[in-house]
Amino acid sequence: MKINRQQLIQSIRGKKTSREEEYAKPFFKWAGGKSQLLYEFDPRFPEELSSGSLNRYIEPFIGGGAVFFYIIQLFHIRRSVICDINTELILTWQVVKQDVQPLISILQGLQEEYDACDLTGQQNLFYQVREDLNREKPVFDYTSYGEHTIKRAAQLLFLNKTCFNGLFRLNSKGEFNVPFGKYKKPNIVNEKNLLMVSDLLADVIILHGDFSKCLDYIDDRSFVYIDPPYRPLNKTSSFTGYSQDGFSEHDQVRLFDFYKKVHETGAKVMLSNSDPKNENPDDNFFDDLYQDFLIERVLAKRFINSVGEKRGFINELIIRNYQDLGKKVIR
Ligand SMILES: C[S@@+](CC[C@H](N)C(=O)[O-])C[C@H]1O[C@@H](n2cnc3c(N)ncnc32)[C@H](O)[C@@H]1O
Repeated sequence: MKINRQQLIQSIRGKKTSREEEYAKPFFKWAGGKSQLLYEFDPRFPEELSSGSLNRYIEPFIGGGAVFFYIIQLFHIRRSVICDINTELILTWQVVKQDVQPLISILQGLQEEYDACDLTGQQNLFYQVREDLNREKPVFDYTSYGEHTIKRAAQLLFLNKTCFNGLFRLNSKGEFNVPFGKYKKPNIVNEKNLLMVSDLLADVIILHGDFSKCLDYIDDRSFVYIDPPYRPLNKTSSFTGYSQDGFSEHDQVRLFDFYKKVHETGAKVMLSNSDPKNENPDDNFFDDLYQDFLIERVLAKRFINSVGEKRGFINELIIRNYQDLGKKVIR
């Protein structure tokens, strides 16, 4: 089947398209998701993905996987490796890969229960699932895989679809603390999508842990897309040097060393990050670090915390170790 890039992007962005049903898309709404930037990324992916000379795909910070879903459905990728440090997120990816049918059954049960309730009943169900999830966390056996893992993945997906803004956020104790979203008819189980995703994941290697784990899988036939947690934009949070994920300034430097090692393997690598110059035009953190690579700035739509919860356009950095395709560098 010839893939229509425009429709694939629209589908990953959650828009209705005439062939929407045919494409797999993210099953988890994830903070920092990159579906909005796919139009900017598309012309910047290496040409060798189309010719097939690059046929391995590695994404060390997978999140909801917007870029993964694009690449894996558009190009002939023979091997891919995805990774994330978030335990609950990776657990869910693993269950979608290995046990999609039982997962769908549990979610269908939850969907029926939710749909049969009035708003108060829905709210009670939401808080009951949230409480179960948090209560089990300290004693949950993450080291073995079984029915308990499938049940937890279902709880996480249910909460992701019914919580406020569909955000996944944990407090300092590692508890899920997002409030009820008051959605009347959320699509808790998109069976067709989950089945398509599960098929796509059949040969995908899913790693849990630090991005550095991916290095062993990278060679000169690989394309690597790196989307780390942002360096905090607002001045108060950058004072601590940590992003929400606990990714420090030191980690950004550690990631640069990783980037160089990936470059040395002969792989093609593309990294995105928010531009600190949005806040402070004199902040040359990434420009200094990545001075030997191609740095571009593109416009991205997102919340700017320092000026209230206001939506706006800010620059996003794209840093590649391969040739510009004749596009002007926007500075
Ligand atoms: C900006 S998000 C990636 C979003 C993803 N590109 C998408 O479209 O949904 C960054 C991700 O990095 C993960 N992360 C944080 N520290 C990490 C580390 N040291 N190694 C691997 N992943 C990490 C977070 O759990 C989060 O999922």
